[in-house]
Amino acid sequence: MGPREIITIDGPAGAGKSTVGRLLAQSLGYLYLDSGAFYRAVAWQARRLGVSLDDPEPLQAFLKGFAPEVTADDRGFHLVIDGAEVTEEIRSAAAGRDASRVAVQPLVREWVKEHLRHLAKNGGVVTDGRDQGTAVFPGAAHKFYLDASLATRAERRRQDWRQESEPPELTGIMAEIAARDLRDSSRSEAPLRVPEDAVVIDTTDLSIDEVLKQCLARIRGIDSGRLELKPS
Ligand code: C5P
Repeated sequence: MGPREIITIDGPAGAGKSTVGRLLAQSLGYLYLDSGAFYRAVAWQARRLGVSLDDPEPLQAFLKGFAPEVTADDRGFHLVIDGAEVTEEIRSAAAGRDASRVAVQPLVREWVKEHLRHLAKNGGVVTDGRDQGTAVFPGAAHKFYLDASLATRAERRRQDWRQESEPPELTGIMAEIAARDLRDSSRSEAPLRVPEDAVVIDTTDLSIDEVLKQCLARIRGIDSGRLELKPS
């Protein structure tokens, strides 16, 4: 592999993008960028300030003065708004729904794209989302597209929730994810698509380590059977 490349991971909710992205970045000594967190942060702060999530004009005025701080360390990616870390707050299901609402707005997508490109200007990033290999970094050195069955993706989300509170019923989560998938893949602006030159990995029956191994093997141009992973 070349020096300080850009690696993209796209796919629908719950496919394993952020976990794999974070570990991949760690293995390579790269910066991990969570593009969904930017959409979540825009929606979260807009709602806090009473800015309409669906009206381009007030959104544009709000974005002009919106400058969240981004930092990354061993634990991953952090977003700070008005001096307060919001990395966890923006992970809620409601923030995800709101994010998917603002994500249909071209001016919001442009704002996120500019931020991501600026952060990646020296290369050495692993970035995950819905349009990283298609619209944001079409020239990325390595592109992955992770997918999994709807039931598996919903179960993973449920496990995430279980750590905090009583999780909702699986059927409810499946309906929520299916609605988000539909919105993400049917919007006119940078819809969720498999990038033409992406390696597609179905993670339904794979462990995180297996997915990570496949990605690393592709990046290093070797057979995944020959790759030993260091414990994470
Ligand atoms: O990945 P995450 O669930 O955090 O993303 C939240 C929402 O942000 C997605 O459902 C999608 O609508 C939007 N998004 C996007 N493009 C990206 C990343 C996220 O449209 N690159």
